[in-house]
Amino acid sequence: MSNNRLRIAIQKSGRLADESIQLLKTCGIKFTFSKQTLIAHSDNFDIDMLRVRDDDIPGLVMDGVVDLGIVGENVLVETQLTRQKLSSPAEYQKIKVLNFGECRLSIATPSEQEYTGIESLNNARIATSYPYLLKQYMNSKGLTVQDCELKGSVEVAPRAGLADAICDLVSTGATLAANGLVEQDVIFHSKACLIQSATITDEYKLNLIEKILSRIDGVMQANE
Ligand code: PRP
Ligand code: ZN
Ligand code: MG
Repeated sequence: MSNNRLRIAIQKSGRLADESIQLLKTCGIKFTFSKQTLIAHSDNFDIDMLRVRDDDIPGLVMDGVVDLGIVGENVLVETQLTRQKLSSPAEYQKIKVLNFGECRLSIATPSEQEYTGIESLNNARIATSYPYLLKQYMNSKGLTVQDCELKGSVEVAPRAGLADAICDLVSTGATLAANGLVEQDVIFHSKACLIQSATITDEYKLNLIEKILSRIDGVMQANE
């Protein structure tokens, strides 16, 4: 299975998907994904692109299954905290913060509910896909939180009577507004970033990564 081709994991669908592909193409890497394929082989570089769920990207890099990944810092840090708790490999190198995928992880409460500050949510049940980031934030304020972990539909949890508040990603704020929620505390700022496996020793791959990185720098400078 092992060969010299560099493997890059990108998000299959979602906020980062299109811009991740765009960035790699603008760097001059030629490849095409057909509709349902997981992997695309570049014609002009020894590079394979893998399309997976964003949540899987940090782990694939930390386990050395792929060499590089483009992922949001939110998913990255949550995975790192989860893995540290489980004593699983959690090493990686963040080699570039990219200029897209900007969002924030925020606590939001129902608009009809009075909010007097984060202390008022002490020991509350807060729905989130980011339990470790949330717990870290609450603990840093000397507060505790009750778990309500949801991989999706987080924004409907308060109305459904599952939780008192939510902690979710906010980009435009449209999702919160549509669900009668008000953003209260920003707990984490996030952007897309390029991460590298901490275990690559192959000189050929390391050179290829250098080359990609300098092209990304060029693309980002041109876009400034
Ligand atoms: C996030 C979040 C909301 C949405 C907020 O999901 O869960 O659904 O974006 O964006 P808005 O403020 O512009 O309305 P995202 O698609 O980033 O990630 P996910 O599908 O992996 O949860
Ligand atoms: Zn996701
Ligand atoms: Mg979502």
